[in-house]
Amino acid sequence: MRTQVGIVGAGPAGLMLSHLLHLQGIESVVIDKRTRQEIEETIKAGVLEDGTTKLLEETGLGERMKKEGAVHHGIYLRFGGESHRIHLSELTGGKTVTVYAQHEVLKDLIAKRLEDDGHVLFSVDDVSVEDLTSSAPRISFTQDGANQELECDFVVGADGSQTYTRFLIPEGKVRTDYFRQYPFAWFGILAEAPPSSEELIYARHERGFALISTRSPTVQRLYFQCDPSDSVDNWSDDRIWAELHARVDGPDASVTDGHIFQKAILQFRSFVCEPMQYGRLFLAGDSAHTVPPTGAKGMNLAIADVGVLSKALAAFYEHKETDLLEAYTETVLRRVWRAQHFSYWMTMMMHRFPDATPFDLRRQVAELEAVTGTVAGATFLAENYVGLPHT
Ligand code: DHB
Repeated sequence: MRTQVGIVGAGPAGLMLSHLLHLQGIESVVIDKRTRQEIEETIKAGVLEDGTTKLLEETGLGERMKKEGAVHHGIYLRFGGESHRIHLSELTGGKTVTVYAQHEVLKDLIAKRLEDDGHVLFSVDDVSVEDLTSSAPRISFTQDGANQELECDFVVGADGSQTYTRFLIPEGKVRTDYFRQYPFAWFGILAEAPPSSEELIYARHERGFALISTRSPTVQRLYFQCDPSDSVDNWSDDRIWAELHARVDGPDASVTDGHIFQKAILQFRSFVCEPMQYGRLFLAGDSAHTVPPTGAKGMNLAIADVGVLSKALAAFYEHKETDLLEAYTETVLRRVWRAQHFSYWMTMMMHRFPDATPFDLRRQVAELEAVTGTVAGATFLAENYVGLPHT
């Protein structure tokens, strides 16, 4: 087999890149270890930045999102028993976010790639990439027990945080990894219940952070900070609801209970590797950078990365121009580090640290007051939340 761009990973970065390349007449093949069903059913975050929503719409992927997603003009930060609204659209010249789950975006992307006769190969195994520093890199893999080889002009590593492709960039001499751990995790649930709130609530409480999000008029997504070594088995439905009520309820807010049909613990970390290119290999999305979930930047960053990469590849194929490809790491990482900062900042501001001193706790409340009580503070949050410009 031969293609122009071989893409390892059928998540948001890999599938969206393949779609954007197709629109520019560039061929690609996407491979993934997972089955189509696993990809379409894995529960992730659900907030699309303004730029992500627009890119999906402009490239013919907006139909179901427009029907089933919900446009949000604001979010609440809750602390000291009160909710403070951040008016996203008013503070950003009309920008909004759309609540639409990542796996729904993936279903739309897969359907579109297949409708356009795109090549997406699921359930592959034994993936290895060779000759990255030549002009003809190769991806070999097995599918249904048969060996396959894919010759490419470029290889894109879009294989998520459990990446294989990142490690093809030699550590030390070429690649540097930057990371930060946090002493907590999130417990996430999906519940059949009416919405607790019209807009998302990010709640800071002495017992720990809680987040009220939504999926549809009948399904809600809620999270609360927990110990990273905790297990879902320790949490009965009653205990979960009691914890959410304790962290969120007050005169102006209350959590609505319902049947919980999904529970999971999400681990937390901030990670960036530099550079994101080596020879003919380009990394995109979580294979190169992970953010903590506060602010839901993960998929948005993946989509922004491949927006840049698809333009750089188009410039190469149309005009033999390599400047944009050479600038890829620098272009993308500037925005990635801004999102790293934002996700870290939201995390630090909203969570309870096990070793927090009384000084730390009072300072945290003062920070929340500065953010919610000043136009400058609220604007900083709003601009980052709806998403920085793509380039
Ligand atoms: C969701 C997840 C997030 O991490 C966040 O900040 C907001 C919403 C969600 O899954 O809906």
